[in-house]
Amino acid sequence: MRGSGNESSAQQTSVAAIHLVARHPDVYEPCDDSFALADALLADKSSLLKQRPNVCMEIGCGSGYVITSLALILGDERNNAHFIATDISTAAAQVTQDTLEAHGVQADIIVTDLVRGLEDQLSGAVDVLLFNPPYVPTPEHEVGMMGITASWAGGQRGRTVIDRVLPVVKRLLSSKGLFYLVTLKANDPSEICEVMKKKGFSSCILIQRYTEEEDLQVLKFWRDGICGNYTEPAAASQPSNSKHQET
Ligand SMILES: C[S@@+](CC[C@H](N)C(=O)[O-])C[C@H]1O[C@@H](n2cnc3c(N)ncnc32)[C@H](O)[C@@H]1O
Repeated sequence: MRGSGNESSAQQTSVAAIHLVARHPDVYEPCDDSFALADALLADKSSLLKQRPNVCMEIGCGSGYVITSLALILGDERNNAHFIATDISTAAAQVTQDTLEAHGVQADIIVTDLVRGLEDQLSGAVDVLLFNPPYVPTPEHEVGMMGITASWAGGQRGRTVIDRVLPVVKRLLSSKGLFYLVTLKANDPSEICEVMKKKGFSSCILIQRYTEEEDLQVLKFWRDGICGNYTEPAAASQPSNSKHQET
């Protein structure tokens, strides 16, 4: 969760343009993990397009960089897809709104704890679910603190917030639903995949990326028995810095 990756043009790259992404001191600025997630979505574009998503949702949207990127990646194919973004931070909701507007994308932005209050309404409806969680291992008491700490404080093994989301995924995802999750090696991604396997989900590592400070993975999950994995996983991709250079 470091750095300041950037890009030159939304048109060139199909992801949100950094110079159009709004900022606030209490809101997480797009960083290596955000870029890895957007790059994973780009790499998985054919899978996303074949899926023809109706409902796309991001939990913990922060600046809105990722949900905006998803909408841009789907492009004209997004048809009438409905985009929903949640964050526990009111400032993040405002910044996401500004980022979406700057790219001409519409979404419902809801300030809530993960998906609280939305589970019944969205049960079995979400076709694409994204989460770049607070994954940094920290003392447990730091989890849920307000301000920028909420962006990264993940408790023991960085798993506290992740482990709260995993049980909700099965309920939210549609039969063809895809779930993309950013993890660190310290989060024990293999164990996360085992937990999800017991819930009936297949998985793969879409992107594995070694930055100066972090060993990041973007995991993808889909229900056993559906063809959720149209794209060969890029098991050890390098950061595509050209996509994120500031102008
Ligand atoms: C690592 S940041 C990711 C931000 C953005 N998605 C990105 O990739 O750049 C994690 C985000 O999750 C939000 N968050 C943390 N705990 C949350 C919770 N319990 N419910 C909703 N959002 C939460 C934080 O406010 C922060 O915006």
